[in-house]
Amino acid sequence: MTDYKIAPSILSADFARLGEEVDAVLAAGADIVHFDVMDNHYVPNLTIGPMVCKALRNYGIKAPIDVHLMVKPVDRMIGDFIDAGATFITFHPEASEHIDRSLQMIRDGGCKAGLVFNPATPLHYLDYVMDKLDMILLMSVNPGFGGQKFIPATLDKLKQVRQRIDESGYAVRLEVDGGVGIGNIREIAQAGADTFVAGSAIFNTDDYRATIDKMRAELAK
Ligand code: DX5
Ligand code: ZN
Repeated sequence: MTDYKIAPSILSADFARLGEEVDAVLAAGADIVHFDVMDNHYVPNLTIGPMVCKALRNYGIKAPIDVHLMVKPVDRMIGDFIDAGATFITFHPEASEHIDRSLQMIRDGGCKAGLVFNPATPLHYLDYVMDKLDMILLMSVNPGFGGQKFIPATLDKLKQVRQRIDESGYAVRLEVDGGVGIGNIREIAQAGADTFVAGSAIFNTDDYRATIDKMRAELAK
């Protein structure tokens, strides 16, 4: 049985009540808090940084925080998020000058490290770093905004990455981000994903528990 994890993206939460929103999705059965960091440079949007991560920890959030860095340069942010209480830190390889070093920095800081692939980013960035990864995140939309439509070509890419992970023998989570919801989570899981980011599909509903339960029911089919 695959250990599926649901990771609501707080990008779609009500930022004016962020602590309560995170409490609410966790109480509704979410496993991981997906935390989107955008810099208006690598992606055309601007969101939240280490201070907000730290604030969530100070507020009492104990769940894993999955920091998705959509920033360039990457390394300057890594130490700040380690100090802010991140659990996972993932970054886009083409935004880092030294991918191996960035991954090492994350693990040296006691966090779990991951690479993120945009829909058109090739998988060759995995070639020499499989042993340094705890997570591979495939974007199923172009990064920058919530509420976009899932790009179907991601399914084939997921299958390829699933095979690479299985052949490597390393314990690497395979996460998918963008346009994930009740209607497609099952086929995404069948393609090999085990960790599901969902922003608008959860936060734009009135009953977070009902939505997460429906996602789990799809995964259990
Ligand atoms: C997009 C972000 C996603 C986003 C997903 O760049 O990385 O995490 O919040 O939102 P939905 O689930 O609405 O597509
Ligand atoms: Zn994300």
